[in-house]
Amino acid sequence: MVQGLEVFPTAAALARGAAERVAVVLDGALQAGGNASLALSGGSTPRSLYELLSEPPCRDRIDWTRLHIFWGDERCVPPESAESNYRMAQQTLLRHVKIPPHHVHRMRGELPPAGAARAYERELRSALGAGPDEIPRLSLVLLGLGEDGHTASLFPNTPVLDERRRLIAEVFVERLAASRITMTFPLLNNARTVMFLVSGGSKAAILRSVLQEHRPALPATGVSPQAGELFWYLDRDAASHLTEREIP
Ligand code: 6PG
Repeated sequence: MVQGLEVFPTAAALARGAAERVAVVLDGALQAGGNASLALSGGSTPRSLYELLSEPPCRDRIDWTRLHIFWGDERCVPPESAESNYRMAQQTLLRHVKIPPHHVHRMRGELPPAGAARAYERELRSALGAGPDEIPRLSLVLLGLGEDGHTASLFPNTPVLDERRRLIAEVFVERLAASRITMTFPLLNNARTVMFLVSGGSKAAILRSVLQEHRPALPATGVSPQAGELFWYLDRDAASHLTEREIP
């Protein structure tokens, strides 16, 4: 596994740097022929990245007509909810680019979680031409990092962390008293490229625990695409607890 870590002076510089990397990775995947696949992260950090991808020059470097969009996770809410990761991406990116509607694969947060997860796994496999026993290789997965070390909706002390067969699963998060749908480690760790985007001083302590202490209890520590690339894109505030010599 190739690892890379970039620290940018501000959140705005982080978004610009990440947009450049996303454009390079997706253009590279598309140059290889056929379609490419991008799994979007939820939360607030990627908003400015999505806005940059929705406008020139990044927008025009990507052939959106050959891109399939997925989500790493979704809250179990309707798509029009302010909590919806789909809604955020639709507003900041998807309505601004020429992506065929059937290439936008929304997790159905409005449906019962278990059925929605099973249906999404079927849709993912079908869109990526993967058989029932294959694990699709996503071109690029964007992830965030929660202050408790969660990523996507892989939260600490939840059974979904032990899932090794299913690619998409439902999870009830006690702390949030809410259900989520999430990609699981087998799918995330088979991606060609995974990019974490982490911004703000509130993430500094957890980022050090993940990146330098490698605490196994922290879900983000479990993201390790063995045959792929893993990039950490940070701003200076988030990286403020990292020591130079320990940065991978
Ligand atoms: C979600 C995300 C989640 C997010 C982290 C960081 O649905 O909320 O997928 O994993 O990436 O919680 O969120 P922020 O970017 O808002 O700090």
